[in-house]
Amino acid sequence: MAHGILQTFYPMESALTFRPATLEDAEFLFRLRQEAAANYKTVVSLESTREWLRNSPEHMLLRIAQIDGEPVGTARWNLIDGEYDLSYAVLRKLSGHGVGKRMMHAFVKKFAHGKNIRAICHENNIASQQVALSLGLKHVSSDGPWKKFA
Ligand SMILES: CC(C)(COP(=O)(O)OP(=O)(O)OC[C@H]1O[C@@H](n2cnc3c(N)ncnc32)[C@H](O)[C@@H]1OP(=O)(O)O)[C@@H](O)C(=O)NCCC(=O)NCCS
Repeated sequence: MAHGILQTFYPMESALTFRPATLEDAEFLFRLRQEAAANYKTVVSLESTREWLRNSPEHMLLRIAQIDGEPVGTARWNLIDGEYDLSYAVLRKLSGHGVGKRMMHAFVKKFAHGKNIRAICHENNIASQQVALSLGLKHVSSDGPWKKFA
């Protein structure tokens, strides 16, 4: 189980690795989606998560992040209009301990080096914005409450 990770992991030398997501990750991804959706009062279901995984578009790269072999979060990009749109989430119980930043720095280095990346963050989602800024992205435009970092 992932709890216990923080005691052993936070030395930065604990291994953070990525693997492709499979249908067997549906429950883990559903949990992450539920935790994130709670912020926006949207509804997701396990079945819609399975469906999304089954029909993953070719222009999406989806990875499960693991620390010492335990899933801790997910990172992906979707290629949209020539831009690599980043999405990311970590287990809520691990949130605020640097996992999101570490995960996204590793993800960009490994899978998006030299690519035209962007992140769309809600104005209330400070952690998400901080992750984007830490990747060197800048706030370039807004659409209602959604801020684009590129
Ligand atoms: C966004 C998310 C991935 C960040 O991961 P995390 O592990 O919690 O973030 P970190 O601990 O690496 O912190 C990153 C920065 O955000 C800040 N931060 C973290 N949690 C915060 C909070 N609740 N409020 C304000 N700032 C916060 C940290 O202080 C840090 O800032 P710094 O760069 O100035 O040091 C995580 O909060 C999450 O999964 N949220 C739900 C999904 C989501 O909203 N994804 C983004 C949509 S693209």
